[in-house]
Amino acid sequence: MAVTGDVYNTGLLKRIFQYVKPYRSVFIWSVILTILLAAISPVRPFLIKYTLDHYILTGNYSGLVNMTMLMVFMLLLQTLIQYNHTLLTNILGQSVIRDLRIRVFNHITNLRLKYFDKTPIGQLITRTVSDLETIADIFSEGLISMIGDTLQVIVIVGVMLYTDWELSLVVLLPIPLLILATRKFQKAIKVSFQEIRNEVSNLNTFLQEHITGVSIVQYFAREQQEYRKFNAINKRYRDANIRSNWYYSIFFPVVELISAMSLGLLVWYGSKSILSKPLDVTPGTITQFIMYLGMVFTPIRQLADKFNTLQMGMVGAERVFKVLDTDEVTPNRGTQQPEKLEGNIEFKNVWFAYNDDNYVLKDLSFEVKAGQTIALVGATGAGKSSTINILNRFYEVKKGTITVDGIHIEDLELNYLRSHIATVLQDVFLFSDTILNNITLNNPKITIEEVVNAAKKVGAHEFIERLPGAYQYNVMERGATLSAGQAQLISFIRALVHNPAILVLDEATSSVDTETELLIQKAIDSLMEGRTSIVIAHRLSTIQKADQIIVLDKGEIKERGTHQELLKINGYYKKLYDLQFSSEGIAKSS
Ligand SMILES: Nc1ncnc2c1ncn2[C@@H]1O[C@H](COP(=O)(O)OP(=O)(O)O)[C@@H](O)[C@H]1O
Ligand SMILES: [Mg+2]
Repeated sequence: MAVTGDVYNTGLLKRIFQYVKPYRSVFIWSVILTILLAAISPVRPFLIKYTLDHYILTGNYSGLVNMTMLMVFMLLLQTLIQYNHTLLTNILGQSVIRDLRIRVFNHITNLRLKYFDKTPIGQLITRTVSDLETIADIFSEGLISMIGDTLQVIVIVGVMLYTDWELSLVVLLPIPLLILATRKFQKAIKVSFQEIRNEVSNLNTFLQEHITGVSIVQYFAREQQEYRKFNAINKRYRDANIRSNWYYSIFFPVVELISAMSLGLLVWYGSKSILSKPLDVTPGTITQFIMYLGMVFTPIRQLADKFNTLQMGMVGAERVFKVLDTDEVTPNRGTQQPEKLEGNIEFKNVWFAYNDDNYVLKDLSFEVKAGQTIALVGATGAGKSSTINILNRFYEVKKGTITVDGIHIEDLELNYLRSHIATVLQDVFLFSDTILNNITLNNPKITIEEVVNAAKKVGAHEFIERLPGAYQYNVMERGATLSAGQAQLISFIRALVHNPAILVLDEATSSVDTETELLIQKAIDSLMEGRTSIVIAHRLSTIQKADQIIVLDKGEIKERGTHQELLKINGYYKKLYDLQFSSEGIAKSS
């Protein structure tokens, strides 16, 4: 069959087959069964012809019974092979995509944040779920059965030619027409399948974003507008599906027509032959050919479909491999893993930009001694979060160096570095799992005693005990069933049990009210005990005790010193302090 496109991409096919290797025996058996099926398919029609000509038309009853039993046996054998064939190809396909999916997931979780800045999550979900599913079909419906179908056509045409070449040539006359129609259909359907895949990806992306952001949609009463947008995507999806079905609705009747032509030719030419040379062509031959025609037409018609399944699988594979090929992982060339990390941090003339040279941090230099606390202060967008992002190596610095205990952070093993820095963010993320697992993050080394102790220290033990199931309480996705303050406390416990040398608090108290903050302050104090801490807070109460305060403005250090020193300078920090003081005064009086 003439084909175009990705199926000729043997490199891609080879790559897919890398994943078949562990299941080589399943694959080989599938192919063997496929060949067997193709080989025995012409037997039954032949038996029928033989029975008709030699037993029925001659009235040989016992012969007829024997032949019938043989045919029943053949049928059972065929069914048995078919059953195993379907089972094996499905096992093969599903095993391959399970392995691939795990691989893709591992890869995605290791990609650096920069990748997620520009890739919609819905798209990644489509890759790991539905695109992967199309790869399974390569094995269960595509490639292997295409081999079988092709073989079957070849075998049957061979048997037909052998039985009666003249009659065969006549009835197969419309076959080129069928091949032509199949090709046209296959090309059209390929385009429309691709449209469907694209719209599926769009649907997933849209749904994922709007379900995650549903509160924004509702707060701003955007339901109507979003509904319209969703409607448009759905319409495109529906249209793409209808278009592909339209091709089918044309194609199938055309195939019927062509096969009716063959049948007509068979009856016409066959009867003529029986009348003119009855010794060559028998009624049995006609019956046999009628069955053979079905066995030639059906596979050719299905080949178009299966070819598309294969094609879709290849497209899916290409997309999945593209995700696997993104090498946007944080390079982990560091090997150093000191026995104990003290937590001395030094930034030396650090320049940083998310995009090219749009610098968000300019010539940043500061030092935090082990056990000390540094506070970063500044307006929104000043670069506070960026500073801790680069300390964690979520993004790479452009110029300058960051060292921990005098070791360049790029020389430290990446997981080692990150596991020694615990970061508590304002926006706490909780998985839909138990409180316990949300705290330990499934680290088996952390015992329940440690968790309870940490919870007591942070002052969260009581409220957790009151929850149904206590530490086994299942928080809904994103911690929806907990208050912001409670979720924040969970994140403090999480940081505490991981016992980091360096603690980072990025506006960790912003989502709790001033009163709760006073309670949490105790938790924070115990959290910071004996650790190097970097604190970003918009409430000055949290930072007054810091050993050093750094005031950032548009990525540059404007002022630095202790609370008292900075007040004396009477600059930016003083202004901030006055503002805060007066606003807290207002808050208290109201
Ligand atoms: N992922 C990102 N990609 C591109 N620009 C970013 C990203 N995150 C933050 N920025 C930009 O970097 C600057 C500093 O942001 P950030 O460090 O988050 O400020 P702060 O935490 O002080 O409010 C801002 O101008 C912000 O728009
Ligand atoms: Mg920030």
